Amino acid sequence: MFNDNSDNSQSIAPAGIPFSQACENNKQPILDVLQKELRESTHVLEVGSGTGQHSVYFAPRLTYLTWQTSDVLAHHSTINAWHTAYPAPSLYAPLAFDLEVDPLPISLASNQLYDAVFTANTLHIISWLLVEQLFELVGDALAINGKLIVYGPFNENRHYTSARNQQFDISLRQRDPKSGIRHLEDIIVLAETHHLKLSNKYEMPANNQLLVFQKY
Ligand SMILES: C[S@@+](CC[C@H](N)C(=O)[O-])C[C@H]1O[C@@H](n2cnc3c(N)ncnc32)[C@H](O)[C@@H]1O
Repeated sequence: MFNDNSDNSQSIAPAGIPFSQACENNKQPILDVLQKELRESTHVLEVGSGTGQHSVYFAPRLTYLTWQTSDVLAHHSTINAWHTAYPAPSLYAPLAFDLEVDPLPISLASNQLYDAVFTANTLHIISWLLVEQLFELVGDALAINGKLIVYGPFNENRHYTSARNQQFDISLRQRDPKSGIRHLEDIIVLAETHHLKLSNKYEMPANNQLLVFQKY
């Protein structure tokens, strides 16, 4: 049932549970890349799982690996509700992972070694300080050749890549001045300081990008 890449069915939210239309729109394009980039991975940690919609779509379609969700505690009931509605053997209930609250090294927090970390639409939400924190933790957690996969909007050459991203950035900063679309070049430099090298960059629909970093 799940072997057909064209199976882009819309998930239905459990009653009264938050739903993200953006996740529905981007889940298949992201999966197309993950099926290539995670071919050799076994344990994936997702940071900032949000509603959990990505996890319920990806885990049953990447059955050879485990998918560990995580987020701040406030999101756990939503993620658990989505997992109950769309269960999969390789899909794991969320870990409490809050970059704000003195996070443990990832391997200690979850008692598991990961060879890949995936995060979507988080770097423009959290402060730059927490972006730095995240790269440090992931750089420490991954073994050599492990991958960090980041999806979201980025600026290139210090410019917005679209008028829509510019509007989005303004609205983000009005809500929280510490948030905002990050510069790709800054992310690459930060990653390098934690032994993470940009190995692939995919242009994605709606002016988003998917960045793949590999630990060296
Ligand atoms: C825009 S949502 C993205 C959710 C989901 N990945 C998606 O693409 O729909 C940003 C996510 O970052 C998480 N987040 C915000 N602050 C965080 C923190 N301090 N530590 C860990 N996650 C955080 C939020 O809880 C939320 O799930």
